[in-house]
Amino acid sequence: MSFDRYMQMALYEPGLGYYVNGLHKFGSAGDFVTAPEQGGLFAAALARQCDEVAGQLGRNWTLMELGAGSGVLARDLLESLSRLPREYLILEPSAPLREVQHETLSRLPTELFERVRWIDQPPGEPFDGIIVGNEVIDALPVARFEIGEHDELLEQCVEFDGKRFVWASGPPRPRLQEAVSGLRQRLSRPLPDGFASEVCIDLPGWVETVTEALSSGLVLFIDYGYPREEYYLPDRGEGTLVCHYRHRAHFDPFVWPGLTDISAFVDFTAVAEAGTRIGLEVAGFTSQAGFLLGLGAHEAVEAASNDRQRLKLAGELKRLTLPGEMGEKFKVIGLSRGLDSPLSGFGLMSQLHRL
Ligand SMILES: C[S@@+](CC[C@H](N)C(=O)[O-])C[C@H]1O[C@@H](n2cnc3c(N)ncnc32)[C@H](O)[C@@H]1O
Repeated sequence: MSFDRYMQMALYEPGLGYYVNGLHKFGSAGDFVTAPEQGGLFAAALARQCDEVAGQLGRNWTLMELGAGSGVLARDLLESLSRLPREYLILEPSAPLREVQHETLSRLPTELFERVRWIDQPPGEPFDGIIVGNEVIDALPVARFEIGEHDELLEQCVEFDGKRFVWASGPPRPRLQEAVSGLRQRLSRPLPDGFASEVCIDLPGWVETVTEALSSGLVLFIDYGYPREEYYLPDRGEGTLVCHYRHRAHFDPFVWPGLTDISAFVDFTAVAEAGTRIGLEVAGFTSQAGFLLGLGAHEAVEAASNDRQRLKLAGELKRLTLPGEMGEKFKVIGLSRGLDSPLSGFGLMSQLHRL
């Protein structure tokens, strides 16, 4: 089978896939810790960005979160926002994760919790609002390709050898052929023989589907990734797949399928192109550090009421913003429709030129 089909099954096969088997995934007792799981600083900064945009949207605005994980970001955003959305929609495909989110959010005061609504599909009716997806695109299935001898394009598929899954290369599907040809035309240098990587064939369609109903507002995707020229650097010739099991990263997607998270870095140039193709503007692109500091995340540390609190917040800020931690590896892209004021999150350290 193709690798994207394998990844889809390993992550989402009902009852068995990593995101739908009901096992614990997030936080210190799980497999990985995402930015909102570090504490409240990430959500507080994001809330500032949302408040700024909500000021342009008027009172009837909607916040939609894609893939809400444990629900911690939704909880902290609702508690931090000065301008509350009329509705906080959560588009979450995993039924067990919806339950976890419900549990987290039901502890909120009623006037916040009653704004939350889980949805199976993006809204059909147009809305003004903000769409947020933290570490969602990295979980979308990707196809694998390889440049064989004499520049031949091969698709890396998955076979079962009787004991375990193994890679098997063969001629590419037409859709992969088309995606990689488009990619190669846009890259400034050729991909060398032996180069292997991945491409998210479904990304443009997915971006279109989740943003289609947005009449005006902002879409924020935060994730680990690179602009395209860096993603497909000849040196990165084995691709960007990364798996997580109990806080250990490994690179073999065939180990413990269903128990191991499988993800791929995000090609942010592809995200920008997917947005502009459907009429969204690229409102900004920066590192997570640039985004959070642009929104004043450090001010909470300075304002801490005692040393203990200050130490805790300083540790959290370091994990979120230092280059060796999440600060540079994670990027933020903003896609907008109908907004005219600049966004503070992208004002401090714009990296738009790198896209
Ligand atoms: C790595 S987790 C991130 C969770 C959370 N956003 C956080 O930052 O802690 C990926 C999340 O995306 C969800 N997800 C996967 N595919 C999705 C899709 N196509 N649309 C929306 N959410 C999706 C998963 O079920 C999970 O909740």
